[in-house]
Amino acid sequence: MKVSVIGAGNVGATVAICVAQKEIVNEVVILDIKEGISEGKGLDMWESAPITGFNTRVKGVTNDYAATADSDVVVITSGLPRKPGMSRDDLIGINAGIVKSVTENVIKYSPNAKIVIVSNPVDVMTYCAYLTAKVDSSKVIGMAGVLDVARYKAFLAEELNVSPKDIQALLLGGHGDTMVPLPRYTSIAGIPVTQLVSKERLDAIVERTKVGGGEIVKLEGTSAWYAPGAAAAEMVEAIITDAKRIMPVCALVNGEYGLKGMYVGVPAILGKDGIDKIIEIEMNEEEQKMLEASAAAVKTVMDVLDGMNLFA
Ligand code: NAI
Ligand code: 2OP
Repeated sequence: MKVSVIGAGNVGATVAICVAQKEIVNEVVILDIKEGISEGKGLDMWESAPITGFNTRVKGVTNDYAATADSDVVVITSGLPRKPGMSRDDLIGINAGIVKSVTENVIKYSPNAKIVIVSNPVDVMTYCAYLTAKVDSSKVIGMAGVLDVARYKAFLAEELNVSPKDIQALLLGGHGDTMVPLPRYTSIAGIPVTQLVSKERLDAIVERTKVGGGEIVKLEGTSAWYAPGAAAAEMVEAIITDAKRIMPVCALVNGEYGLKGMYVGVPAILGKDGIDKIIEIEMNEEEQKMLEASAAAVKTVMDVLDGMNLFA
């Protein structure tokens, strides 16, 4: 089994080391356009194998897609990250072209790969990769919900002083400040969160989650990578091991939740073929309205992609 990671920046390198340490594939290939960066990071990771103890061979290449041939999963992280004052949507002008050309190369050498998109604005970049790859939408999946829900769980664990492992939660919508964390579907070791956290504190945690990406950008001057890298690696693991995990992922909807023809965050079962099934949960009126507002925000960015005429 083989996983390739395109883009050896902060997120790409983290995905690569997380996947390698899981020992679920024989080989991880990292590719970047910057001469030497992938080779250096790949070698550094491989040299950590005797210490942390993994067998996965890690190898870096400069723009050599032949080295990614026959990958089972390819994770695309190439593109600009946001800087303070920028929204994820401001990145589309540059990242759409990058994601399109990268996807063309990926699919040429790995026509059967499942493709996980990380580059922002991720909902629309996943749509862009889907239009480029011309494969079934179940094989082109965006990473956002796993990260966003992890932030929500981390804040709840801190609030309650409990293990984050005991928190189950769900979140829908686009990967932007309109995302929809769902307290009604949140429990701590089976106990509904509303029994343990006051409405006021829960509202504050939900709001912090929505701007969780921006919180890191303000602190670091660039966007996050540890949690995003771990999140993408968790999706890779679910696919490679055919785990049938239910995760919030960015998927092409075809009528689910009343939405159609767009990529947006929904819960789905992940297995060896990518998305096995999108799961539709019961939503109340307020939740459905929030999801529709989030989808409308994603649509606005899709219009920008359309206006770029990349697929004319
Ligand atoms: P980074 O700047 O550290 O790394 C990006 C890498 O992409 C660079 O090494 C660059 O040389 C490479 N690259 C650019 N064009 C390329 C091409 N045509 N082919 C191959 N490599 C190319 O950025 P970072 O922090 O790793 O973020 C990467 C992307 O992921 C950004 O768009 C960021 O906004 C996004 N992101 C998305 C998240 C999500 O939840 N979906 C979370 C965190 C970041
Ligand atoms: C994040 O949420 C910027 O999408 C990136 O950290």
